[in-house]
Amino acid sequence: MAKMEVKTSLLDNMIGVGDMVLLEPLNEETVINNLKKRFDHNEIYTYIGSVVISVNPYRSLPIYSPEKVEDYRNRNFYELSPHIFALSDEAYRSLRDQDKDQCILITGESGAGKTEASKLVMSYVAAVCGKGAEVNQVKEQLLQSNPVLEAFGNAKTVRNDNSSRFGKYMDIEFDFKGDPLGGVISNYLLEKSRVVKQPRGERNFHVFYQLLSGASEELLNKLKLERDFSRYNYLSLDSAKVNGVDDAANFRTVRNAMQIVGFMDHEVESVLEVVAAVLKLGNIEFKPESRVNGLDESKIKDKNELKEICELTGIDQSVLERAFSFRTVEAKQEKVSTTLNVAQAYYARDALAKNLYSRLFSWLVNRINESIKAQTKVRKKVMGVLDIYGFEIFEDNSFEQFIINYCNEKLQQIFIELTLKEEQEEYIREDIEWTHIEYFNNAIICDLIENNTNGILAMLDEECLRPGTVTDETFLEKLNQVCATHQHFESRMSKCSRFLNDTSLPHSCFRIQHYAGKVLYQVEGFVDKNNDLLYRDLSQAMWKAGHALIKSLFPEGNPAKINLKRPPTAGSQFKASVATLMKNLQTKNPNYIRCIKPNDKKAAHIFNEGLVCHQVRYLGLLENVRVRRAGYAFRQAYEPCLERYKMLCKQTWPHWKGPARAGVEVLFNELEIPVEEYSFGRSKIFIRNPRTLFKLEDLRKQRLEDLATLIQKIYRGWKCRTHFLLMRKSQIVIAAWYRRYAQQKRYQQIKSSTLVIQSYIRGWKARKILRELKHQKRCEEAATTIAAYWHGTQARRELKRLKEEARRKHAVAVIWAYWLGLKVRREYRKFFRANAGKKIYEFTLQRIVQKYFLEMKNKVPSLSPIDKNWPSRPYLFLDSTHKELKRIFHLWRCKKYRDQFTDQQKLIYEEKLEASELFKDKKALYPSSVGQPFQGPYLEINKNPKYKKLKDAIEEKIIIAEVVNKINRANGKSTSRIFLLTNNNLLLADQKSGQIKSEVPLVDVTKVSMSSQNDGFFAIHLKEGSEAASKGDFLFSSEHLIEMATKLYRTTLSQTKQKLNIEISDEFLVQFRQDKVCVKFIQGNQKNGTVPTCKRKNNRLLEVAVP
Ligand SMILES: Nc1ncnc2c1ncn2[C@@H]1O[C@H](COP(=O)(O)OP(=O)(O)OP(=O)(O)O)[C@@H](O)[C@H]1O
Ligand SMILES: [Mg+2]
Repeated sequence: MAKMEVKTSLLDNMIGVGDMVLLEPLNEETVINNLKKRFDHNEIYTYIGSVVISVNPYRSLPIYSPEKVEDYRNRNFYELSPHIFALSDEAYRSLRDQDKDQCILITGESGAGKTEASKLVMSYVAAVCGKGAEVNQVKEQLLQSNPVLEAFGNAKTVRNDNSSRFGKYMDIEFDFKGDPLGGVISNYLLEKSRVVKQPRGERNFHVFYQLLSGASEELLNKLKLERDFSRYNYLSLDSAKVNGVDDAANFRTVRNAMQIVGFMDHEVESVLEVVAAVLKLGNIEFKPESRVNGLDESKIKDKNELKEICELTGIDQSVLERAFSFRTVEAKQEKVSTTLNVAQAYYARDALAKNLYSRLFSWLVNRINESIKAQTKVRKKVMGVLDIYGFEIFEDNSFEQFIINYCNEKLQQIFIELTLKEEQEEYIREDIEWTHIEYFNNAIICDLIENNTNGILAMLDEECLRPGTVTDETFLEKLNQVCATHQHFESRMSKCSRFLNDTSLPHSCFRIQHYAGKVLYQVEGFVDKNNDLLYRDLSQAMWKAGHALIKSLFPEGNPAKINLKRPPTAGSQFKASVATLMKNLQTKNPNYIRCIKPNDKKAAHIFNEGLVCHQVRYLGLLENVRVRRAGYAFRQAYEPCLERYKMLCKQTWPHWKGPARAGVEVLFNELEIPVEEYSFGRSKIFIRNPRTLFKLEDLRKQRLEDLATLIQKIYRGWKCRTHFLLMRKSQIVIAAWYRRYAQQKRYQQIKSSTLVIQSYIRGWKARKILRELKHQKRCEEAATTIAAYWHGTQARRELKRLKEEARRKHAVAVIWAYWLGLKVRREYRKFFRANAGKKIYEFTLQRIVQKYFLEMKNKVPSLSPIDKNWPSRPYLFLDSTHKELKRIFHLWRCKKYRDQFTDQQKLIYEEKLEASELFKDKKALYPSSVGQPFQGPYLEINKNPKYKKLKDAIEEKIIIAEVVNKINRANGKSTSRIFLLTNNNLLLADQKSGQIKSEVPLVDVTKVSMSSQNDGFFAIHLKEGSEAASKGDFLFSSEHLIEMATKLYRTTLSQTKQKLNIEISDEFLVQFRQDKVCVKFIQGNQKNGTVPTCKRKNNRLLEVAVP
């Protein structure tokens, strides 16, 4: 859906008046008050017709956003509140659509915001013109030329932290579609004196500080520079740092911008080298040196700096040194060399520095132009933006201010001319009678300066070219003679000046009454600056430089092209370039931005009325307004006028069918506006007095309020009616729905009542039928019951009769049987009594035994010999059988168990059995041995190399090999011995060496004694008189006593066929050599612990304490 366009106007919500043409009454005070009022409300832009007045806000306002650009895009100039974008849009559109070349002239004093305004115009145009990769690159290059030129051409002054120290005019070129193609920049008069000296509180050009702060150490070394500003005489120190400015960051921005603009790396390098050379030049100092012929001569104090400059620039040191010491003047093939005194040497040095820098700046502008120039040769449309230094009035005004102010005079003139011309043209175009306007024309001041015969510039040139001694004073004298009568020139010495009495004028000064105010100029330096002299020796030295850029900057130094003609003076050069500029501007459609500085403090929110008043005066704003509203204060095309005011007349409201002009005529007639208050042009209505316009505006406002009330009324009526209709419609719908619902509900009720009644009646009928049916059934059942009872009675009677009959028959049969039995028993009694009792008994017994065995078959317990279960006995008479059977079964299952044994197992069990027979219930140690398997050779003498000898000595099979404690017969202490039992012998050997200590043949062993207690002591008694018995019996103790005794018993039995006597007693005698000693076992003595101890009590008693 198309966006509804809301027609707005500059007149909407105005603060003060947006266009000062409408100011009523019109005077200086109202103009300033209006500007102030708007400024206080952040409205920094105000129109005078199509001229934009801009008051520097000194702070960033949110009025330049992309949304704002869109707001102003393609809107009429007076449609929105005043803005620089409106002017830019107007200029751009008339360039694009009407093919008119444009120029935007931005004027105002230093710090008023000209440069910012020019950048805003450029950025607006860049935002609204065509897009695309190529176009964007062009735009970017055009925009990025600004930071480069600002770095080299701007400086901090007391008036502006970023003051442009050169004039700049930039032509932006567009193709027929309005896409940018490129541009051309012209620069005017760089303030080069700043390079060598800056007024107090000001700085040199930004680039010097940017380079020193932002360059890397490496770059600084390469340029032979040091970061410290104080090292350089050309840099003023008191304000080297500017608040809110980051020089290092700006250096990066500038290098980046140079890259975008198209500078090659080596070009950037060359430029920086020149900058470095200029800085270093300032450090060259001279000292006086007298020569014999009395002429003054100077000498360089410290040649180090000179050497470095020469290295940087590739100049032969001796050449440059000579250029600082001598001056060669050539005249008619004659060369005369004179020495330079110290002052002249310093002059030469500074002249070189200034020239080097200003030529570098011009080179930069040309280089940028080369990059940004349009690539095609098609016809171009041009938009020129002029940002030139504003009018300057300082305490000390010199040649530069004179030149700058001259330029401003010219601009004011062109402004007056073009504004008037435009105004006049419009009147003619619109066929309105032209009325003459009184205004100040500054052509007379321009003439005072630029007149070719007696203008100040011409006088200066004449003085400079004149032979003989020329000084600033002679120049002033000349002026006094020639210009004295001029009404805008004043000087103390002027002969017939009207201001002769004005002693406030100092000597060696002249004053010009510019259109913008009076300015006092010091003549000192005029001649020199106009001459702009650089000694030829220096330019030749520069031309000889190995540095290509420097060489190209001094073409006049080429000896082959020596030109004895003096170069044009600075003044005449400037005049010429201003003339070209004016010519250029005159061919274009001018757009004006007049910048005003609200205060001297560079501060926001301060509006110094005195300062603004001064600017309003010299900018000629009042004149501007007067010119603009000469005759008619306000004009407007018929269509927008009718559109805006058509509601004031019945015929034109809401729609006017005829042409707009007729509509406006009807409107004005209807409103009874006096005929002398307005005029009808061809396309516009001209209103003589702002009062009329404001009256129209008031009426419109009133009418709009009425209309708003009307609209409100109609809207409210409409709203209420629609609301009512909606309610009514809703009510009908609701009623219909409700009726339907109520009827439905009633119907449901009737239906359910009917059903209830129906069901009651049906129920009543059914019950009646049921009752009848029940009665009928009961009657039938009663008959059946009666019949049944009757049949029952009959049947029971019959049954009774039949039972009686049967009983009688049974009784007869029983009696008969008894009778028969009796008869038979009587007959057979004699056979029956003799055998029957025994037979029955035997049979019964047989049955019982048979049953017993069959049952036992299923009840026998498991085959485990240790299972003690056995079924209980069923009959007492089978008790012995039952026990026997248990025994047989046990024997049988033991046999079964034994049958499974291998021979070795059998042997083990045999031994265990033997042990059991020998020791069970006799020796307390026995139970603990049952679980231990008998191993026999515990000591594996085969495997132990220690016992190899012992093993070799024994040839028989070893039955027991075990370490035992042998009890010493003398004291009861024990020593370890290896106890060996073979088939025929019993051997004792030393445990450590394995050496055999004793050997007893088994036939010599008579008895083994031991206690009944839980100890391992045992004695082996030997046959008296045998060889082994010479030392007496052995007393041992061993853990495996039971096994040892058993094995000894079995071996003796098998070898000697005699049972070994084993005596178990707690007291027995042992033969110790000749003595018989009693070994007595006594029960427990707790302090000995769990080990039995043995103690010799006396000759006859050895006591063993068993725990
Ligand atoms: N529209 C603006 N919005 C915000 N600040 C502004 C605006 N215009 C100017 N300024 C501030 O004022 C300062 C001075 O502006 P600018 O450099 O444009 O002055 P100038 O007229 O070019 O001065 P000169 O003649 O010395 O070059 C800017 O650095 C900026 O801080
Ligand atoms: Mg500027």
